[in-house]
This record gives sequence, structure tokens and C-alpha cells, in this order.
Amino acid sequence: MSLLKKLEQTFFNNQAMHPWPGLIEAYRDWLPVTDKTPIITLQEGATPLIPTKSISERIGREIKVFVKYDGLNPTGSFKDRGMTMAISKAKEAGSEAVICASTGNTSASAAAYARRGGIKAFVLIPDGYVAQGKLAQALVYGAEVLAIRGNFDKALDIVRELSNKFPVTLVNSVNPFRLQGQKTAAFEIIDYLGEAPDWLCIPMGNAGNISAYWMGFEEYFQAGKSKKLPRMMGFQASGSAPLVFNKVIENPNTIATAIRIGNPVNKEKAIAAKKKSNGDFKDVTDEEIINAYKILGKEEGIFCEPASAASVAGLLKHKEKIPNGSTVVCVLTGNGLKDPDCAINNNEAKFYKDLDPEIKTVAKAMGL
Ligand code: F0G
Repeated sequence: MSLLKKLEQTFFNNQAMHPWPGLIEAYRDWLPVTDKTPIITLQEGATPLIPTKSISERIGREIKVFVKYDGLNPTGSFKDRGMTMAISKAKEAGSEAVICASTGNTSASAAAYARRGGIKAFVLIPDGYVAQGKLAQALVYGAEVLAIRGNFDKALDIVRELSNKFPVTLVNSVNPFRLQGQKTAAFEIIDYLGEAPDWLCIPMGNAGNISAYWMGFEEYFQAGKSKKLPRMMGFQASGSAPLVFNKVIENPNTIATAIRIGNPVNKEKAIAAKKKSNGDFKDVTDEEIINAYKILGKEEGIFCEPASAASVAGLLKHKEKIPNGSTVVCVLTGNGLKDPDCAINNNEAKFYKDLDPEIKTVAKAMGL
């Protein structure tokens, strides 16, 4: 075949000619939508599964490690997968307002999708514990932001009660449509790899995402799209690890504010996923989280938020347990840009400040 012909073929077969329609359209048959459901989408999903050589090398055997970079969703986190479903269904039901409690990402995503669907968004956040990027998003997307002097768990109690008493739709992960949307990440992994991974490493907060992934893996497995199921390996920050220590944590604390949650609502589902998959729940210290965060940034060129790095931190901590020849997927749930303060305070970059605006000075600083 001539080169021109080849190029032509590549071009016409190129995805650019058939843009990704968003995950509801892509996985319509697997989702509870009908022709009557208005699809509120920002073309979320189809996020890359990136091989990470430096992580594989650190494990040091024949183990393939990929990261599912869900921080590349439209609002920079996996929440968009759930929110396209939750808001579409809220719209279908005639809802005019949605509400959520959030450590930041849910609020950003709810705000964006609600506005796109022409409905109002109220978001409750723990005052002072939401990363700047996430707060900026909720404000720019036009949500009404209510910061409480209390943590996420308290905020969730309040919104659950409010949504029972008033005509506002709750879009936290107790809303079943959220998990339906989020399960598509597991579909994408199998569609890409042609098989389920052996391990899925994932950070846990309210434990919705691990439950959603498990649902997705099970559905594809039952439909014969994969021949195996992964072990679900859930990781929490040591100061905020109710599922690891099997008790409510009254005052959770961690640098990974996204998963600063002491009483996860999806606890039962997550425990069932762990049991059925022969998985495990483990904690990782803030130091281990930041170490993984730095490795991803400076060795792989992948900038995730600290909570996301918990998946890689957990993998590295428990690398001895992985059988040779395994394929591992670590879920990177959110984009690093969400939390610029963490980035600025946790890096080993050379950063020369206050330089004279002269070639000589700059060259000298460069070591030339
Ligand atoms: N990673 C990130 C970046 C998150 O924002 C969250 C949860 C998780 C992991 C944990 O996911 O709750 O399904 O176990 N963030 C929620 C929020 C709580 O409000 O944005 P989970």
C-alpha cells in the first residue's frame, strides 16, 4: 500500500472523525438510560491508561503497571463519570436543583454538570479543607457554595437530611446513578487491555468508586468480556482510614484532603467487593502518598492530586505480594492542578527566585 493510501486510511479511520460522545452514549446499553433521558455531558470518559515504567521498575519483576488517568476528565476528576449520569437522571425526573457534600471534586463536578443541564447546584464543603483548584471550579461553574465548620461526614449528614425534606436531588455517591456512571472506568480498562487486570489499586474515601469499579468488572465478566476479575486493593490515608481499621474515625486527617473521610457511606458495598475479589484494604502514610506523588510527577510526567497517589503508594508498599507476570492498574482519580498548594510545597525542583533579568545571571543559575 502506498504511503499516501496508508495516511488516507489512518486519517479516515481516525477517532477525530468520530469524536468520543461521552460515556453515556458510548456505554448506553450498560446504563439505566432510555430515549427519554436528556443526556447532560461534557464528553467525559475515554481517559488514558498509561504504562508507568518507573513504577514497574521499582517493583522489579515482570509486572506491568498502568495508571488510569481519570484526572483528565472535563472537571479534572473521576466524579464526572458519575455526575453525567446523576445529573441526566435528575433532569429526566424534572429536578430543578441538586445538592452534595464534598471534599472538593464532587462539588466541582456537580456544579459543572448542573449548570450544563440548566439546574441549580448547592454544595456543602468543610471550611478550610478543600483544595484551591476545586473551590475555584465550584465558584466559576456558578454553584452556591456553603462552607461549614465541620468535616465532610458532618456535611454529608446535613445534605442527606436536606434532600429528604426539600425538593433537591442528592448527587453524592449514595445516589445510585453515580456508581452506574463510574463503573464505566472498569469497562474502559477491559476494552483497552482486552482483559481485566490482576490488581486494581484505588484510593478510598466514601468508598463509592471502588464499589463502582467492582460493579463494572463484574458486569463485564458476567457478559464474557473478560475471563478474570481483579483483586480490589483499596488504600486509605493512615490518619483517615476507617475501612482499614474497621471503625469510624471522628477526626480524620491527611494531606490528601479529597479522602479525608471518617465514616464512608458505601462501606458495605466496598467490603463486599473486597471479600468477593479476595482483595485487601491497607493504609498509607502521608509521607508515602507524597513520595508516590513525586515519583509520578518527576519520573513519569503525570501530575495527580495527593489522594490519587495513594493508589500508587499502596502498590509500592505491598509490591512483594504481587505474583510475577501480573498486570496492575492504579487509578489516578484527580488532576494535580486541583491542589496547587500541595504541589508548590512538595517537590524537589530547582526554583531560582528573584533573579536579575540578565543573560549572565540566568546562565549562571543554569550552571552554564
Ligand atoms: N480520589 C479523589 C481525588 C477524590 O476526590 C475522592 C473522593 C476519592 C479519591 C475517593 O473516592 O469517595 O468514591 O471512595 N472525593 C469525594 C468528593 C468525597 O467530595 O469529592 P470515593
